[in-house]
Amino acid sequence: MAVMTEIPEKKIILITGANKGIGFATARALAEAGHTVLLGARDPDRGTTAAEQLTADGLDARFVPVDVTSPDTITAASALIEQDYGRLDILINNAGISRDRPHPPAELPVAQLRETYETNVFGVVAVINAMLPLLRKSAAGYVANVSSSLGSIASLSDTDSQIWQYANLLAYNSSKAALNAITLIYANTLRAEGIVVNAVDPGYVATDLNNHSGHLAAEQAGAAIAHHVTQPDIGLTGLFLTESGGPQPW
Ligand SMILES: NC(=O)c1ccc[n+]([C@@H]2O[C@H](COP(=O)([O-])OP(=O)(O)OC[C@H]3O[C@@H](n4cnc5c(N)ncnc54)[C@H](OP(=O)(O)O)[C@@H]3O)[C@@H](O)[C@H]2O)c1
Repeated sequence: MAVMTEIPEKKIILITGANKGIGFATARALAEAGHTVLLGARDPDRGTTAAEQLTADGLDARFVPVDVTSPDTITAASALIEQDYGRLDILINNAGISRDRPHPPAELPVAQLRETYETNVFGVVAVINAMLPLLRKSAAGYVANVSSSLGSIASLSDTDSQIWQYANLLAYNSSKAALNAITLIYANTLRAEGIVVNAVDPGYVATDLNNHSGHLAAEQAGAAIAHHVTQPDIGLTGLFLTESGGPQPW
């Protein structure tokens, strides 16, 4: 009788907001690399359809219901992963929204600022905390927070910065700056346990988030993120990585 042995390199990976855009492209890249990819999505139809696109190609992918603003769905996802896989190797906090336009900062309703933070900031913390027990069961836990150069304090304080024309997006930019600080705090506190936590900037990518104005294709961003999370040098935690791999200023 053939003995089934697990391939150690095959990672169990959860990606939030994986039904479209950068999240879906990252899911495809990681599944094509041979990993088990759990596509987190808040809408069952969109999540199921996305996962089916990958399984139809023979890839190891599965829809997992996760609305990052819903603690119940996060708890249920953690329980499902615990029961069916026993660990989580890589968590990619990709779900994100942008709610600024067309408001200048002083006219942005606070409710929209709050809504943005619920997803881009509080949702990330909730998912990390729920998944930490599973990441601790991995031989090499890795958390990637999908951030943006628009959240770089260095860029927001540099009038010559490439992002200067977008520097007034109050909710989005400040949410990503908060996410960057959160990334560093988790990196510092989890370093001793060998869990790597980095922020990854996918670049300016054509997706629904920006009405497809970006110059990169989602597939390029997905390939870059997939490369980052599967090539971690365990010593390199607390980094803010560009799509081309190098660190950028916080
Ligand atoms: N595009 C860029 O140029 C760019 C640049 C830098 C950083 N980023 C970041 O990259 C990430 C992905 O963005 P994208 O450009 O791929 O945008 P996108 O195509 O709009 O995809 C966003 C994804 O997040 C999901 N999502 C939103 N709220 C959610 C919630 N409460 N719970 C679970 N999922 C939720 C969306 O699901 P639904 O389909 O259900 O709405 C969708 O799957 C975001 O964090 C974004 O800030 C993007």
